[in-house]
Amino acid sequence: MTETRTEFEARAAESGAGATEAFRKKQKGGADVPAERVSAMARDALEAIHDVIRKDHMTYEEYDALKTWLIRVGEDGEWPLFLDVWVEHVVEDVNTSHRSGSKGSIEGPYYVPDAPQPEDGVIPMREDEPGTPLTWTGQVTSTEGAPLGGATVELWHADANGFYSQYAPGLPEWNLRGTFLADEQGRFTIRTVQPAPYQIPTDGACGRLIAAADWHAWRPAHLHVKVSAPGHELLTAQLYFPGDPHNEDDIASAVKPELVLDPQDAGDGTVSVDYGFVLDPATADSPTTR
Ligand code: BEZ
Ligand code: FE
Repeated sequence: MTETRTEFEARAAESGAGATEAFRKKQKGGADVPAERVSAMARDALEAIHDVIRKDHMTYEEYDALKTWLIRVGEDGEWPLFLDVWVEHVVEDVNTSHRSGSKGSIEGPYYVPDAPQPEDGVIPMREDEPGTPLTWTGQVTSTEGAPLGGATVELWHADANGFYSQYAPGLPEWNLRGTFLADEQGRFTIRTVQPAPYQIPTDGACGRLIAAADWHAWRPAHLHVKVSAPGHELLTAQLYFPGDPHNEDDIASAVKPELVLDPQDAGDGTVSVDYGFVLDPATADSPTTR
């Protein structure tokens, strides 16, 4: 598929702004965080920043460059992108460290709830969707090994150009997004296409930081999932493919060895993979949805 650089950049810009709008809708007015928690975390965050200024001896020129860049992050609608790339992985670690079931990973900015449930197990895609066809089978179980019949696997991923439907324009509404119901044994079969490595949008403030610091913008190819079953903790994860060079240097620091798939060449131009999930029991402090 050929695309001019200008079209590519325009779609990337819409992805950033779309993520801000989607987050505002999901958040509906904000969270109720007690004053003592706000005070403690704001004070610790400010002290951490003060320590950096002292350690690296920030000049006034650098301080003004920082202000200019922070203003730009807001103007470009890139706060969700910035936070999900460089901050969310620590929030995810802290909030899932008690689990003995499957490992999770960051959600990122491009989840959309209520994706269609395809009856034939094939994720919605275009007729000429680029990418190697992938058949994924798995089972959802509890930490006791019991099959979780009727578990739900929500799957979403980027297309071969790295674009997510509903964030980049020009894609069918639910392209590469689906909700799959497991059978009474917790087993599921999903048909999709293998995604490609992906660059976070580079045409806004996050891209400016990446260029100024001489970093790269790549995430390895990945599938996003949310796996749920009544009475169990919601699992949000990403699954990766072996041999992807960006498994080692993911800009979002979201790869864990347990999340790397073992796909097999089916010999007919398609790939198959078996990967299941173990869900922890829900407790009062661990909601089954987020
Ligand atoms: C993602 O697509 O997984 C993602 C994109 C931007 C920031 C973090 C994650
Ligand atoms: Fe992603």
